Amino acid sequence: MKKRTKSNLSIFVIVFSLFLFGIFMSNNNVEPIAYLTSSSPFSSLFNVELPPEEECDLFTGNWVFDNETHPLYKEEHCEFLTEQVTCLRNGRKDSLFQSWRWQPKDCSLPKFEARVLLEKLRNKRLMFVGDSLNRNQWESMICLVQSVIPPGRKGLNQTGSLTIFHIQDYNATVEFYWAPFLVESNSDDPRMHSTIDRTIVPESIEKHGVNWKGVDFLVFNSYIWWINKVSIQGSFDEGDAEYGAIRRPIVYERMLKTLGDWVDHNTDPLRTSVFFMSMSPLHIRSLDWENPDGIKCALETTPIPSTSMVFNAETKNRMFSKMGTDYRLFSAVENVTQSTKVPIRFLNITGLSEYRKDAHTSVYTTRQGKLLTREQQTDPASYADCIHWCLPGLPDTWNEILYTHIISNSL
Ligand SMILES: *[C@@H]1O[C@H](CO)[C@@H](O)[C@H](O)[C@H]1NC(C)=O
Ligand SMILES: *[C@@H]1O[C@H](CO)[C@@H](O)[C@H](O)[C@H]1NC(C)=O
Ligand SMILES: *[C@@H]1O[C@H](CO)[C@@H](O)[C@H](O)[C@H]1NC(C)=O
Ligand SMILES: *[C@@H]1O[C@H](CO)[C@@H](O)[C@H](O)[C@H]1NC(C)=O
Ligand SMILES: *[C@@H]1O[C@H](CO)[C@@H](O)[C@H](O)[C@H]1NC(C)=O
Repeated sequence: MKKRTKSNLSIFVIVFSLFLFGIFMSNNNVEPIAYLTSSSPFSSLFNVELPPEEECDLFTGNWVFDNETHPLYKEEHCEFLTEQVTCLRNGRKDSLFQSWRWQPKDCSLPKFEARVLLEKLRNKRLMFVGDSLNRNQWESMICLVQSVIPPGRKGLNQTGSLTIFHIQDYNATVEFYWAPFLVESNSDDPRMHSTIDRTIVPESIEKHGVNWKGVDFLVFNSYIWWINKVSIQGSFDEGDAEYGAIRRPIVYERMLKTLGDWVDHNTDPLRTSVFFMSMSPLHIRSLDWENPDGIKCALETTPIPSTSMVFNAETKNRMFSKMGTDYRLFSAVENVTQSTKVPIRFLNITGLSEYRKDAHTSVYTTRQGKLLTREQQTDPASYADCIHWCLPGLPDTWNEILYTHIISNSL
């Protein structure tokens, strides 16, 4: 009797191990990313960079729940996070949103190794330039690298529009530069920029650009500020009523053209890598994901299942398809990034982020610099922020993708 139980148990152990092994294999049943090992002397001599997209499309795939490997850091272990994004500390009860891993269809993202990235950044500068979504990503990047740096050997320094995270032992910096439209605007003050009348100067970028010179890795973004009406300084603006329908992509493209010219004239492609992050989606209308009982993103605790991802493909030419995404701006970015002499790599994170209705800061955040009160937290219809993202969380995935590009680059 006893013996039988024992042998049953060992059969169980074997079967269960095979089962686990099977899971392990199926998780790894993907091609290793070939280009990661392809930095041959030839490629570094001639700067033949193998773009990851040619090997594997990192942006098509699905979200896999994986609490063994994610989150990549703990909220309480990253002292540099601002109150805007520390959702658990601010009262959020569910934390499963932190444990989803992005699984591209035909390969896997490499494991994020802070030291590997820091070696790439040694004696170099990595700078994020753009709006609060890019700041969200910058904060994520600091948390991703800071754990391997001893206390006292790292720190933040802010001057004007530029905030610099110093990593002494590597003589490296991870920086954020506030420029929500990238070109000059009346919203360029890093603190006082709330204005309804947003005005830009689409052909003027030098004031900001001087601060980007000599940077080794530039990561641009600009989207959320374009959603409302944007006026052009000095113009009569007769088309205001049609801003979104007609002018947004045109004005956006003028901005991008200015940026592209700046990049061509001010960066050395042998030294500088330039990236442009695509739009970060919004989850403000729960009907976008067919939840009639939702209140914006406030009640969401799981991603939209990838099998139901039909929303944007068929609405590409509308002003706003679902999740607040104006897909017309993609073609503006394509037009410009394809015409620059210095390559600008477009990181298309919009689609993968559209699934993540569960990952926003919602009511567990600040408003005008102050934590929402308990009373405000009970009124998500008025107070939920369904634009920014909790950390750890989705922007870590954007950085895993950026990391993949940086470490596979032969520069
Ligand atoms: C991961 O999730 C499973 C299922 O929800 C749970 O049983 C397990 O304790 C979790 N592990 C960790 C490390 O959180
Ligand atoms: C430190 O890094 C900066 C770039 O951020 C570089 O200009 C400088 O030469 C580096 N210092 C040393 C000693 O390598
Ligand atoms: C910040 O800047 C000040 C003045 O330039 C400098 O003294 C200080 O060491 C810097 N802090 C860090 C963390 O680099
Ligand atoms: C991109 O370029 C094409 C061809 O020049 C043009 O037809 C299209 O309108 C441009 N897209 C945008 C958004 O400006
Ligand atoms: C961006 O990715 C989405 C899928 O997530 C795809 O539908 C779209 O065509 C891509 N756009 C560009 C410009 O690569």
